[in-house]
Amino acid sequence: MPGPNALELISQDEAVASPSLIKEYPLAVDYAEGVVVVDVDGNRFLDFMSGISVTLTGHCHPRVVARVKEQAEKLLHICGTDFYYPTYTALCRRLAEKAPGGGEWRVFLGNSGAEAVEGAVKLARYHTGRPQIIAFNGGFHGRTLGALSLTASKAKYRAGFGPLLPGVQHMPYGNCRSCEYNLTYPECGVHCVESWRDSIFARTVPPDEVAAVIVEPIQGESGHIIPPPEFFPRLRALCDEFGILLIADEIQSGMGRTGKFFAIEHWGVVPDIITLAKGLGSGMPISAIIAKDEIMTWPPGVHGSTFGGNPVACAAALETLDLVDEGLMENAIAMGAHLLDGLRRLASRYTEIADVRGKGLMLAIEFSKDGMAHELEQRCFRRGLLLLVCGENAIRLAAPMIITREDANKALGIIDSVLEELTG
Ligand SMILES: Cc1ncc(COP(=O)(O)O)c(C=O)c1O
Repeated sequence: MPGPNALELISQDEAVASPSLIKEYPLAVDYAEGVVVVDVDGNRFLDFMSGISVTLTGHCHPRVVARVKEQAEKLLHICGTDFYYPTYTALCRRLAEKAPGGGEWRVFLGNSGAEAVEGAVKLARYHTGRPQIIAFNGGFHGRTLGALSLTASKAKYRAGFGPLLPGVQHMPYGNCRSCEYNLTYPECGVHCVESWRDSIFARTVPPDEVAAVIVEPIQGESGHIIPPPEFFPRLRALCDEFGILLIADEIQSGMGRTGKFFAIEHWGVVPDIITLAKGLGSGMPISAIIAKDEIMTWPPGVHGSTFGGNPVACAAALETLDLVDEGLMENAIAMGAHLLDGLRRLASRYTEIADVRGKGLMLAIEFSKDGMAHELEQRCFRRGLLLLVCGENAIRLAAPMIITREDANKALGIIDSVLEELTG
């Protein structure tokens, strides 16, 4: 592996596609169904990365495909910014009803995660009339210039693209395994949030100039990092004290993958603005900005998109929401717990595993030995299991929400055999 057809496709692609693309391993896909991806040489893979946390309902779920076909035969495009159509309105209603904490919410539909993030930042600035945005070290919010200004997971994403958006500050995240203050939880008193009054707000950014704090409830790209229990309640309190909006970037963690529809619900915190994308359309490109009614006050014309909320993508999202509601979220909780148990058993046998963590099906294995995550990823690919590295030296497991115990056990078995090979 890769086989002859894959090698041929790869060489053709390399001649014409942008060299900026990563290409994690030489997977060249012909078709995919459920949890199985089949490459152009007929090799079959168990997909535990969901096309980078996108195919929540598995690949080409028959109900999503049927809904897409039905919609494609009726209306491909008319432009939701200027006109009305039922799937746009229906999706806005479903997402507004999903928003946590009750009350009235409104929705703007876009095409990609970065677009939702930029729209959320525009909305926060517009609504508050304040210029500054605070994001977190380790955060990933996208690669368009505005979103990139918030992204702080790898310097190479930013290098050579400056100057970026002014008015963006980065603060340490609630990453207790790698605390930037070298403190230990819980003795630290959640210094990463509590210190803001004496640090950033006292020295560099007056809090009444801050429009919003944008945060991933669980940092995805940086390693599926879960902040401590007090982190979000304290951040919410700090935002409330200074009239700052809290934006939860749920693009990777949302849609029920973690066992709650929005991951921030694990902390009982209600944000002011939420961004969704990735899994929302089960693979069709669609994103959403969900904001409290009193915040989404921008008047006609100030924000729009030609393709945003495309009818076919909306249809895919509506079917995805039905599937999530009809049992997939419960399955994510059950299968996530089963996988985490299995990962803990592996951690007790392999000393090179420094940590296993996760909520629902947003799981990670972190290694103490350099390069081990990469090596595991590459060897799992060759044995038919698709995984992805994340963070410094971790592997993320982001299986589709349809997986069975058999799929989970098969994945654990492959990881185990590769670890045995790597450490033996
Ligand atoms: C949390 C988060 N926000 C934003 C984005 C950007 O989304 P997109 O690649 O659709 O622009 C990503 C993508 O990985 C993400 O994980």
